[in-house]
Amino acid sequence: MPVVTSIADLRDMARRRVARAIFDYVDRGSYEEETLRANLADFERIRLRQRVAVNVAQRSTRARLLGEEATMPVALAPVGLTGLNWADGEILCARAAEKFGVPYTLSTMSICSIEEVAAAVSRPFWFQLYVMRDRGFAAELIARAKAAKCSALVLTLDLQIQGQRHRDLKNGLTVPPKLTAKTLLDVLTKPGWALNVLTSRRKTFGNLEGRIRGADNLATLSQWIASQFDPTLSWKDVEWVKGLWGGKLVLKGILDPEDAKAAVSVGADAIVVSNHGGRQLDGTVSSIRALPEIVEAVGGRTEVLLDGGVRTGQSVLKAIALGARGVMIGRAYIYGLGAMGEAGVATALEILRKELDVTMALCGLSDLAQASPAILRAA
Ligand code: GLV
Repeated sequence: MPVVTSIADLRDMARRRVARAIFDYVDRGSYEEETLRANLADFERIRLRQRVAVNVAQRSTRARLLGEEATMPVALAPVGLTGLNWADGEILCARAAEKFGVPYTLSTMSICSIEEVAAAVSRPFWFQLYVMRDRGFAAELIARAKAAKCSALVLTLDLQIQGQRHRDLKNGLTVPPKLTAKTLLDVLTKPGWALNVLTSRRKTFGNLEGRIRGADNLATLSQWIASQFDPTLSWKDVEWVKGLWGGKLVLKGILDPEDAKAAVSVGADAIVVSNHGGRQLDGTVSSIRALPEIVEAVGGRTEVLLDGGVRTGQSVLKAIALGARGVMIGRAYIYGLGAMGEAGVATALEILRKELDVTMALCGLSDLAQASPAILRAA
């Protein structure tokens, strides 16, 4: 058993354990992956100020996200196909998040359904929604999230049309996963994953029963998205969703100050500054670079979260310093899930919390409320 000290270690373990097509789906980005790389590289460019001789014996990483207490300012982002990294993955992630005391977001494109996750946890989770052309189905999903007592609806705005991920097409990713001449050699080297996932009861999209039979190949999934997701989606529709839902609404995929202002105008409770983890518009700005101007544009009128490139507690603190209320992590916890199941998700969260705690201390902070641009060195 390797000594796991970082998210990078969990990524290595997941890469060795999980079928290549699934690992790559999680790990890779769209087109030339410029934005995927920029999300990480731009975090690295930000320098923290080291401060000394400050009493930091009593520290807290606690935060409030959408009015909910959290042990650190981190929420688990919605990730499609989570349950193909480890059987019942969404249930395991929701349980790990509940035990740790941070919010979990279930994806529309999850393997376990809303109801299955709701039955497994008592902490309310957040539900992520894509708006479909079939508004009746979108309304149905909203009603199911309400019935499951989800505490926030996270409406994703940046994937009405899917960016191409070359790797998924080349790997012949299918849902449910299929053994073919092409995938067999790889799967033979991943017996742990094969025994766990291929024998599991749930292997296709749990929320879409009867709507999609499964995607025989990624072309089918892309076609399904193209045929179902509504590219006419407008701010009027966002208002429609808000009215129907009636609870806390988070708008995810905001990268431009103008869109951030529009989000405030429709009354979003929070926005997620995001380029979908570098999986959509390739060549756009990194999330962390977009953050300061968006924080300025919204001027405290809505909570600002950020995702994209968060793999360390240092990055969490940098995002908070630049005005985010908190961050969402995606790959960071899915690597943990693929590596070790629920224990891996817990390990990912604990790694980030410890890194955040020590980084705060070395910056001379004992509370996250003290984080501001003043803890960063000017570029
Ligand atoms: C879906 O949200 C994806 O990024 O694949």
